[in-house]
Amino acid sequence: MPATSTHVPVLLHESIQGLRIKGDGTYIDCTFGRGGHSQLLLEGLTNKGQLFLLDQDPSAIEYAQQKFGSDERVKIIHQTFANLAEVGRDHDLLAKVDGIFFDLGVSSPQLDEAQRGFSFSHDGPLDMRMNTSAGDTAAEWLASVSAKELITVLFEFGEERHAKKIANKIFDQQQVSAIKTTKQLAEIVKDCYPSNYQGTHPATGTFQAIRIAINQELQSLHKGLDAAFDFLNGGGRLAVISFHSLEDRIVKRFIRDTKQQDLLPKLPVMPELNDHLKSVGKLIRPSEQELKVNPRARSGRLRIAEKVLK
Ligand SMILES: C[S@@+](CC[C@H](N)C(=O)[O-])C[C@H]1O[C@@H](n2cnc3c(N)ncnc32)[C@H](O)[C@@H]1O
Repeated sequence: MPATSTHVPVLLHESIQGLRIKGDGTYIDCTFGRGGHSQLLLEGLTNKGQLFLLDQDPSAIEYAQQKFGSDERVKIIHQTFANLAEVGRDHDLLAKVDGIFFDLGVSSPQLDEAQRGFSFSHDGPLDMRMNTSAGDTAAEWLASVSAKELITVLFEFGEERHAKKIANKIFDQQQVSAIKTTKQLAEIVKDCYPSNYQGTHPATGTFQAIRIAINQELQSLHKGLDAAFDFLNGGGRLAVISFHSLEDRIVKRFIRDTKQQDLLPKLPVMPELNDHLKSVGKLIRPSEQELKVNPRARSGRLRIAEKVLK
């Protein structure tokens, strides 16, 4: 297997129950990872069902090939869900899909392998790309970004209070020599915090922000959700697990706005709904029991919605 560590799926049963699997249905898992959710989803499918698996990380796709490559119900696609519209068109899925699933963020193998450069706890090259075959690494991005843009990224994507100080320090360091490793970056950030600081690791916000920026995570989510809406059939379900408030806000608003956008132009005449999403149940968080087994599930939030035809 290409990766040494495994990934413990978050909110596994809650997500698959939320998708309400039909045995002969068509499903898309937009974030395969190590396939925990896909595996359970497949257990609910007959040999007439279909599952499209996407991941932008080549190592996740390699794992999917080994695990599900010979399952005729499964189609494995190396692609970002930002391009879900193209994937759906290529496979003639418009309004034909019964359920679409997103489990956002990074997998444990990505976090735990120092070579991937996602973690301030392991020293490694400052990479942070989910798709290791394309785009700039975090080190390349840091070498070209302006101090102003860096402040905005750290503040908006990392909710980092010391954004200005950290950005200026990074910028100054780049003038002397390039920042190439996770440890170098983590040390620079730590130096910007008061020595008596107590709390989560000072580099948490900075690493999150740079990762979101270089992988264009929020733009991809907007595009993926738009396409997912088009490919769902009436009664089809959307299930999304997010791991921070920026993502969850996008998901929550997306579900709400499919309804409002359709209503607004028609007011003040009697509202006539177009196709839209309705929330199914409330926001679901991991149980105490799940958190005991898997502390990484801590910030997971699951939202489920169903497509309603006009
Ligand atoms: C939290 S993990 C998914 C774990 C998976 N549900 C499991 O049980 O193993 C997130 C995965 O989504 C992938 N990913 C993140 N953003 C993506 C995007 N825009 N397009 C495709 N895959 C993406 C990551 O590469 C990672 O493998």
